[in-house]
Amino acid sequence: MEKGNKWTVADLAQAAKAIQEGELVAFPTETVYGLGADATNDTAVKQVYAAKGRPSDNPLIVHIASQDDLAPFVAEISVSAKQLMDHFWPGPLTLIFDIQEGSLPSSTTGGLTTCAFRMPDNKVTLGLIETSGKVLVGPSANTSGKPSPTTAEHVLHDLEDNIAGVIDDGQTTVGLESTVLDMTVNPPMILRPGAITPDDLMTVIPEVVMDDHLVSESSQPKAPGMKYRHYAPEVPVYMIDYAVQNWQSAIEWATSEGKKIGLLCSESIAKPYLEEVDDVYYLSKESDVKSSMHQLFSGLRYFDNQNESIDIVFVETFADEGIGMAYMNRVRKSASQRYYR
Ligand code: TXA
Ligand code: MG
Repeated sequence: MEKGNKWTVADLAQAAKAIQEGELVAFPTETVYGLGADATNDTAVKQVYAAKGRPSDNPLIVHIASQDDLAPFVAEISVSAKQLMDHFWPGPLTLIFDIQEGSLPSSTTGGLTTCAFRMPDNKVTLGLIETSGKVLVGPSANTSGKPSPTTAEHVLHDLEDNIAGVIDDGQTTVGLESTVLDMTVNPPMILRPGAITPDDLMTVIPEVVMDDHLVSESSQPKAPGMKYRHYAPEVPVYMIDYAVQNWQSAIEWATSEGKKIGLLCSESIAKPYLEEVDDVYYLSKESDVKSSMHQLFSGLRYFDNQNESIDIVFVETFADEGIGMAYMNRVRKSASQRYYR
């Protein structure tokens, strides 16, 4: 099959056929685009790692279209897990379960005895899973280390030569990857923060805890993928502390160093500095974290690909609470933890 097709919803049958033939198809979800392949086909899954340049010890999420799709893989589903699925699926919540030995290839599980599952909230992709009759691995459809893709164009930029095609369903709505919750421990543990917050989860189950790594960033993360360098554009990114808002002094310093400056922030923050900086990518109108989550990866890609003349980017931060935790987890990585002080 010819590579790098851009498919629409109307081409679902063709995309499903490619999946059945062991090819790679990028699919839309509410979070980010995923790089899909038949999760039970070892050869196809190995191609997913190769296409992304992803380390092979980093396990994949299996995307399903109904809770019944879990049956061949997961022996036991706890009451809490059932309640979470009923409440949040389809949606941006990934659940990790113990799986039946040998029910999935070790390429999919990264050799672990557990596996992550999620039912994405996207009709086309649920249709792709149903039409192909296959459950799909779906790491974010970017080159490893780059910001996750929130449009079909981002996917083709990174992976055009390596995939049969991408199903274009416009820009994703959430913009950051799903919350990953480990159900194999008690109480369940958040390994990656996302749009579904600890408080959201605790409206359904009594207790969740956070991986220590998310609180201190010092200990080793429990999700293998959280330890890798991520989201960082070529250009250095510095965070501006939301509690200090020292944009003025950051811009004066960078100007005195002769740097071309990019801002990644709200319209209201950027407004006084438009004459002094070289480019701005707006994350929101008036600094709301939800819109900023939605635009963040596009903005990081903008300074990586579209405007390569910029020497330094200053990025907006938010309080590390609620959905701000998910935003800040990605922003800290993109800035290699650096604040302008
Ligand atoms: O929103 C999303 O979750 C997107 C869309 C496409 O669904 N997918 C996604 O996949 O972000 P990926 O592969 O980029 O991230 C999966 C994360 C990684 O950090 C991985 O280490 C962790 O989940 N993970 C997967 N299986 C795991 C397991 N069995 N135990 C611990 N962590 C696991
Ligand atoms: Mg990823």
